[in-house]
Amino acid sequence: MNYVEAMLVQRIRESGPITFAEFMEAALYRPPYGYYARRGESSSPSSGSEPRDYFTSPMAHPAFGALLAIQLKETWRRLDAPDEFSVIEMGAGDGMLARDVTAYAPRLDSAFAKALRYVAVDRLPRQEGYYPVVESGRIPSNVTGCVLSNELLDSMPVHRFVIEQGRVLEIYVGERSGELCEVARPQSDSAISERLGDLAGDLPDGFRGEVNLGLHTWARQVSDTLRRGYALNIDYGFDRPRLYTPARWRGSLRCYYKHTLGSDPLKRVGRQDMTAHVDFTAVDEALAGVGFSAAGYATQADFLGRLGADKMLSALRKGRLAQHERDANRAGIVELLKPQGMGGFRVSIHHRDAAADPPLAGLNSSDDAQAASEPLPLPLLHDTTGHASLLASRYPNAAWSVTFSNDGRDGK
Ligand SMILES: C[S@@+](CC[C@H](N)C(=O)[O-])C[C@H]1O[C@@H](n2cnc3c(N)ncnc32)[C@H](O)[C@@H]1O
Repeated sequence: MNYVEAMLVQRIRESGPITFAEFMEAALYRPPYGYYARRGESSSPSSGSEPRDYFTSPMAHPAFGALLAIQLKETWRRLDAPDEFSVIEMGAGDGMLARDVTAYAPRLDSAFAKALRYVAVDRLPRQEGYYPVVESGRIPSNVTGCVLSNELLDSMPVHRFVIEQGRVLEIYVGERSGELCEVARPQSDSAISERLGDLAGDLPDGFRGEVNLGLHTWARQVSDTLRRGYALNIDYGFDRPRLYTPARWRGSLRCYYKHTLGSDPLKRVGRQDMTAHVDFTAVDEALAGVGFSAAGYATQADFLGRLGADKMLSALRKGRLAQHERDANRAGIVELLKPQGMGGFRVSIHHRDAAADPPLAGLNSSDDAQAASEPLPLPLLHDTTGHASLLASRYPNAAWSVTFSNDGRDGK
């Protein structure tokens, strides 16, 4: 038993079972042994020496940051090209996306690059990273620009529930003979069943699910940060009726240890990553509560395609590159677009005091919008950039895929 487990067992012995959200908060974030809080250990996400247990879009290829820079440039224009345009990235990890966006901006437009003030924020900034990342407490406020996140919302602590005899019970973490175990009891917060609303009545006994009650706090943070502009969040998940549907009876909580999918969150506490699908209806509601309106959403594949991913692929085919370089770059870009993988993630955009009509380029499905765009500079993988090289097997187990099938067996 490691330190975090021992501490939790002790705490539970003294004062009874804790909510799963409290457990997840400790297992992922409590210093010094929470999964994201650990530093210097070989399997820690903060260590530079080993791959992380998770693999995200910025790591796949710098085209992800480049295409986002194209979307950000359009939002800058829509805000009347202010001299200072802030992009606040929340949950920036080691700052790879920040580095790629800011590296590409000058290749796009020097006035945009000059106006761009990128602040990468994380609740636990890495000691070593690719771009300076500041702590959550230091987020600027009242800016004009864009709040951005990639795979932030899925890493927030969630409450878990189970349907028993038609009632919504909460799954807590208790202890039995010194081992952590699940305990079903009445809800700690009625907001759990309020979130489910009428959908709860259609869920069969034994159905398990997760609810992120932290979204309102996050939305308030977005609101305090951004006076005027756009909130662009990329994550995997569904609208509420597709998330809480009998076919998904096992819930969406997933654990990752060295790129291997697991389903027992009470194992390897502090050593495995944990995520839960995002309820995008709840995201809309939380942001509506602080004055943001939904501008629309798209799959990541459509979003990046409309911004120019296909053009980048064709420039790659025509460019003068060694075959192995061409293959490695192609593999990285294609990874971002796979419908059963990252391409199936949802890009969701909200706006406040900023135009959303006509649709932003990444959300605009009309053919005219795509025909109008010009050739794009092509960002390439380099040995020094820290991106995954899928062909060089730097992420040997990275061939996992996200399946969003309706059979309830979806997994990252
Ligand atoms: C799965 S990682 C994604 C990192 C990065 N965005 C990427 O795409 O590679 C989630 C990150 O969100 C951070 N995080 C979680 N909750 C947060 C919060 N409330 N505010 C800021 N950062 C948070 C974690 O510390 C972690 O670095």
